[in-house]
Amino acid sequence: MVSRVIPVEPFDLVIFGGTGDLAMRKILPGLYRRYWAGQLPEEARIVGASRHDMPDEEYRATIREAIEEFAIEGGDDAEKIEGFLKLLSFVAVDATGERGWPELAGKIRDGVIHAYYFSVAPRLFGDLAERLHGHKMAGDDTRIVVEKPFGHDLGSAQDLNATLRRYFAEKQIYRIDHYLGKETVQNLMAVRFGNILFEPLWNALYIDHIQVTVAETVGVAGRGTYYDRAGAMRDMMQNHLMQLLCLMAMEPPHHFEPDAVRDEKLKVIRALDPAQPEDIVRGQYTGAEGIDSYAVDVGDEKSTTESFIAMKLHISNWRWKGTPIYVRTGKRLKARASEIAVVFKHPPHSIFGHKANERRGNVLVIRLQPNEGMNLRVTIKEPGPGGMRLIEVPLDMSFAEALGEEAAEVPDAYERLIMDVIRGDQTLFMRGDEVEAAWGWVDPIVARWEEDGDRPQLYQPGTAGPEESLMLMYREGRRWRDIEE
Ligand code: BG6
Repeated sequence: MVSRVIPVEPFDLVIFGGTGDLAMRKILPGLYRRYWAGQLPEEARIVGASRHDMPDEEYRATIREAIEEFAIEGGDDAEKIEGFLKLLSFVAVDATGERGWPELAGKIRDGVIHAYYFSVAPRLFGDLAERLHGHKMAGDDTRIVVEKPFGHDLGSAQDLNATLRRYFAEKQIYRIDHYLGKETVQNLMAVRFGNILFEPLWNALYIDHIQVTVAETVGVAGRGTYYDRAGAMRDMMQNHLMQLLCLMAMEPPHHFEPDAVRDEKLKVIRALDPAQPEDIVRGQYTGAEGIDSYAVDVGDEKSTTESFIAMKLHISNWRWKGTPIYVRTGKRLKARASEIAVVFKHPPHSIFGHKANERRGNVLVIRLQPNEGMNLRVTIKEPGPGGMRLIEVPLDMSFAEALGEEAAEVPDAYERLIMDVIRGDQTLFMRGDEVEAAWGWVDPIVARWEEDGDRPQLYQPGTAGPEESLMLMYREGRRWRDIEE
């Protein structure tokens, strides 16, 4: 099976922060892969912009290295890389001054799509936007792309939104949450709304609980300064896990189009009950042999920031009232594994005797990474004579197995999202009110920790997080699924 690639319209894409980490690891390798796949037209132009002076040739050489490290595709890479590099150029600009702007403006062509990627500190957003307008580089159809962290709390997110909206309409602002670009996250919508099978059961009448796990093995070394101010709550929960939760819980939008989807997501966030202290467990990893502790990684032995968080949540609406949703995410856990598990209730009456109900019933697992796929556990009769013995078997669908390795090859989230920017499709981007609503829910929780001087529980690297997080479920007769690759 070969996937269809439809080339996008010609565009000028300027990446502010064009020599930064994100540009090198994700944005440019992602664009290269799309070029390799035939999705970028030859008339596309990509301009890297940053403070540093750098001739085009040096920029291209740097990008070549980044591609070789992060994006090698196949046998014809050498030739393709040459072709891709020809689309690139570089301009040194000052975000807060006038240096480089006339030159940059000279590169912007009429009659093509214009997109500006703000891969820079949020405090520069206003300066960049002002200069784009001042130099007549922005019109009604210009798109700007911004990254998380989108604010540090509700107030700062509102300020950022206000700054951007002074210069651009909401339909021009693309706020990236790269989890929305992950293939299986989109599949969550396809599975829910493309089948009749699940949706009738997708509510508190039939679902016992839902568990969402985003587990990482990496620590925070190298980005300690940012992370220690954020913690797992702001770094992962407020955005990535919140988005997963929304897609999992939202009502069917009337159409798969940006505002219809985002309206439904917003309703989920607004229906979230305030989280109670007894339903939250924060953790921080200790050191182990050859592994530094969190405190060492961030250079502050008194840090009270969490590198792990587990929570029990409730969505107060007709669909979900009474079905708890457990979420957890953390660094330095035993495996890199992310999944959403929907655990259905038992059948109302067992004709096979009470033993049958000791089973956990049907579980639908949507695996986000690695080994993207789905797994539905069902109960069947154990084959053979000797009475009616029930066993559970998985109906397992690894996308690689079902579709073939090539078709199931999952593009990086950034590839998909950047192409959506060029296509002008905001469905998988966060709207300003969604981001603010998410902060509005997070802020009181964080404020309470600060007031109470709350300290995270310590956990060993390579585990499933602090014991207390297991208790969140045990105390209610439930258990987390194992974290395994
Ligand atoms: C980022 C967080 O947004 O997402 C990181 O800042 C985290 O702390 C990363 O490691 C996880 O992304 P992925 O795609 O590797 O699951």
